[in-house]
Amino acid sequence: MNNQDKVKQLIDLRVEAKLGGGQKRIDTQHEKGKMTARERIELLLDEGSFEEFDMFVSHRCTNFGMEKTKFLGDGVVTGYGTIDGRLVYVFSQDFTVFGGSLSETFASKICKVMDAATKMGAPVIGINDSGGARIQEGVTSLAGYAEIFQRNIMASGVVPQISAIFGPCAGGAVYSPALTDFIVMSKGSSYMFVTGPKVVKTVTGEVVTDEQLGGAMVHASKSGVTHFVADDEQEGIALIRKLLSYLPQNNLEEAPLALCDDPINRLEDSLNDIIPDNPNKPYDVKDVIHAIVDYGEFMEVHRYYAPNIVIGFARFNGISVGIVANQPAYLAGVLDINASRKAARFVRFCDAFNIPIITLEDVPGFLPGTAQEYGGIITHGAKLLFAYGEATVPKITVILRKAYGGAYCVMSSKHLRGDINYAWPTAEIAVMGPKGAIEVLMSKDIKKIEDPAEKAAFVANAEEEYKNEFANPYNAARYGYIDDVIEPRNTRFRIIRALQALATKKDVNPPKKHGNLPL
Ligand code: HXC
Repeated sequence: MNNQDKVKQLIDLRVEAKLGGGQKRIDTQHEKGKMTARERIELLLDEGSFEEFDMFVSHRCTNFGMEKTKFLGDGVVTGYGTIDGRLVYVFSQDFTVFGGSLSETFASKICKVMDAATKMGAPVIGINDSGGARIQEGVTSLAGYAEIFQRNIMASGVVPQISAIFGPCAGGAVYSPALTDFIVMSKGSSYMFVTGPKVVKTVTGEVVTDEQLGGAMVHASKSGVTHFVADDEQEGIALIRKLLSYLPQNNLEEAPLALCDDPINRLEDSLNDIIPDNPNKPYDVKDVIHAIVDYGEFMEVHRYYAPNIVIGFARFNGISVGIVANQPAYLAGVLDINASRKAARFVRFCDAFNIPIITLEDVPGFLPGTAQEYGGIITHGAKLLFAYGEATVPKITVILRKAYGGAYCVMSSKHLRGDINYAWPTAEIAVMGPKGAIEVLMSKDIKKIEDPAEKAAFVANAEEEYKNEFANPYNAARYGYIDDVIEPRNTRFRIIRALQALATKKDVNPPKKHGNLPL
């Protein structure tokens, strides 16, 4: 073979590798409305920035006659490139090759990019479209998954890890994403399950569809496994690019500062009367968020899961922040199991990656009752306490209205090392709401009154007195637990000033192997 032939051979091999499992399977992939592994990478990365690794890898399996069927690249496309000019590592599983299932060599390719990402301090994005461990390979494929899991765990809190689920994913193909920071699913063509409907039917007899078992909306609203749902893969990829814009490259860096010409002292008059006079009336806390952040842009995380708490990313004068806000418009913003878990994980993510946390508080307390107690609200609520108390990033809290009981303590209070704690004049900070308090404190006096009208007047009067005396921000302010009571319309400016003051904050936890988060 002369040198020209050698070059031609290389070109031919590249063409072969790029076809993955072959044109027929690519066509089937397209017919299902799915992109190929390579098309997804092209769309994800800056144009022309992709550098591929390991295109000529193939599997070594000889079981089930596998030696006769080999595909260059072995079902996963790996390498690095840039997003908005910043380095990222990627792997993209190719469903056209053995259903994207993971072999020993497939796993090594993923491990290689994960190792490089950790060394270089760059995010890893995994695009999953896989039937899990390759059945023909047996234990070597399981070992491959375990190697990936170990790397997911070691990279956790070091570089951001983002998973896209763009096909039916089972087994290891869901457990690896579960170890990453964020999961994005696309509606209609992506599923996540420990094992698919065929196996479920064989094992338990249960008959379910892909969608019912592990569709995007199921995981977005019921299990909370996925953080984002996109209408299609294109939107999912755009979401990942946007998400990365809020994040630093690794745990030693700050998130990029965005250019901002939204005035820092923009007054939002609407906020001065957004809180209804009736304390039982809801309002949408997202209106508050949109009013105060740069350009009203808020990237909500976990939109469909536990909507009684709202979490997501935004910017103040170009500074990337994580926002945690109780949502009075859903279940009165109560803290329940799911809301506690959702917010705790987010707080820990922000803390791991140096992203300041802004907490907007309006919460009547923890949800009482047997359903919550049996589900372990004590343990799950403690997760949120732990997360806030452990976090050393700048923490700014604004109490908008209710801050009752344990919920006052939990939501980034001064006592959990909140740095700057503000309250609106509408804040109600007390051990419990007026109704409950009067019930507990005055039940004997109330019982003594026989006339119903007189009784009602007595209760109303006592509640009013309690409200005036205790359910306000000034008692807490008197103790310095609230740094200032601020005018609502000035909230944006006060938060930006606080962020500027906290830019050099340094706080450390005592040396330890790790804490024991109440899992
Ligand atoms: C080898 C596989 C495969 C696998 C799919 N294929 N999964 N090959 N190992 N795990 C192959 C199929 O044989 C088929 O090959 C092609 O991929 C497409 O699969 P279909 O079944 O035709 O596609 P579809 O109907 O879309 O169903 C996709 C699926 C289903 C839902 C993923 O294939 C499935 O349920 N697979 C098994 C999933 C599973 O239980 N995995 C768990 C592995 S254990 P041809 O040649 O016909 O095109 C695991 C342990 C990890 O991962 C550890 C966790 C802690």
